[in-house]
Amino acid sequence: MGKKLRIGIIGTGGIAHAHMRSYLKMAETVEVVGGADIIPGKARAFFDEFGMPGAKAFERSADLLDMELDGVSICTYNSTHAECTLEALSAGLHVLCEKPMSVTLEEAVAMYRAAKSAGKILTIGFQPRYDPNMDLVREIVGSGTLGDIYYIQTGGGRRRGIPSGTFVQKKYAGVGALADIGCYSLDMVLSAIGYPKPLTVSAYASNRFGTNPKYFAGADKFDVDDFSVALIRLEGDIALDFRMSWAMHMDSMGDTMFFGTDAGLKITPAGVGTGWGGAWDGTIGPMFLYSDIKGQLCETSIPLRKPSDDRFFSKVQAFCNAIRTNGPAPIPTIQSVYNQAIVDGIYRSSQAGKEVEIALPEL
Ligand SMILES: NC(=O)c1ccc[n+]([C@@H]2O[C@H](COP(=O)([O-])OP(=O)(O)OC[C@H]3O[C@@H](n4cnc5c(N)ncnc54)[C@H](O)[C@@H]3O)[C@@H](O)[C@H]2O)c1
Repeated sequence: MGKKLRIGIIGTGGIAHAHMRSYLKMAETVEVVGGADIIPGKARAFFDEFGMPGAKAFERSADLLDMELDGVSICTYNSTHAECTLEALSAGLHVLCEKPMSVTLEEAVAMYRAAKSAGKILTIGFQPRYDPNMDLVREIVGSGTLGDIYYIQTGGGRRRGIPSGTFVQKKYAGVGALADIGCYSLDMVLSAIGYPKPLTVSAYASNRFGTNPKYFAGADKFDVDDFSVALIRLEGDIALDFRMSWAMHMDSMGDTMFFGTDAGLKITPAGVGTGWGGAWDGTIGPMFLYSDIKGQLCETSIPLRKPSDDRFFSKVQAFCNAIRTNGPAPIPTIQSVYNQAIVDGIYRSSQAGKEVEIALPEL
């Protein structure tokens, strides 16, 4: 067996635990040798929790990056994804950065360019990609069964699902629901159609629930969006209708639908009727294909595949496998830049109150 991969974790808060558990499942071939968190004592406490006295704990990511490492998991809140990624790439490391890629498109472009010039992997943590039913969606759409796709509707709505902590303050999260779970919905539909370039966005966003103490205990600190809708024009004459909500007086924001010239695919959200559910932010509910056979309008129920029990592990494993083969990134970095371009466009358009262009530089 070859040498074990040496991994570091930057940001040892909530999601770092899921990264750590995944790396521990590969303990024969991967070792987490250190971690850093700007909150004094937090990285040490993290490793103590896992019974790892030998792992080095730092308060400055620069000190962690001085260690001999192959790659890092970046598990900081959104507003520091870009700076930590740039630092790790310039230290010559491969990076698995949590979602969303960044806060702004400008940051995402800088991250993409840095990974390209360093010749290192930069992959973003969209674990729903590793759902076998997402593969099924990609296979159906990719097979051409739907014909030319001209309209897609997607998104997710939680009836009561405002997260707490660093997710609801702009200085940490940068953006609210639209980036937090919206980036998943965008990734799922766009990866199915090969990620065409986004061109324009007309969006509306608000935060009527997060800022209301009746619905959210931390309302005084809440300053991100909790609801957004957008019409995004994509290259190839495709309209993408996006809806996202962390809280609402409704059971669902609707199904995910691909409209094609030969058939349509409907994916109902899993978990409608539960407080948190109704979101296509990770779990696929019953799927139906609508078609026309000899003039007869048909509706076919598509049996679902057994869901993967650990999509999160699959994403961390894919990162480690990519390091061993020196790439490519399991989720192509350019796709995450396009995803971020849409998040950025929705944010800008809702602020401006009008349609905005998505100006992607040559990449
Ligand atoms: N993929 C998933 O299922 C999933 C789930 C939850 C969160 N996330 C993402 O993970 C990220 C973190 O979320 P969380 O819930 O763990 O947040 P968190 O606030 O619990 O943890 C973030 C940690 O990063 C630390 N940090 C911030 N900047 C740092 C820096 N420059 N250097 C070192 N440490 C730094 C903070 O002190 C904090 O401890 C977010 O981007 C979030 O969107 C992903």
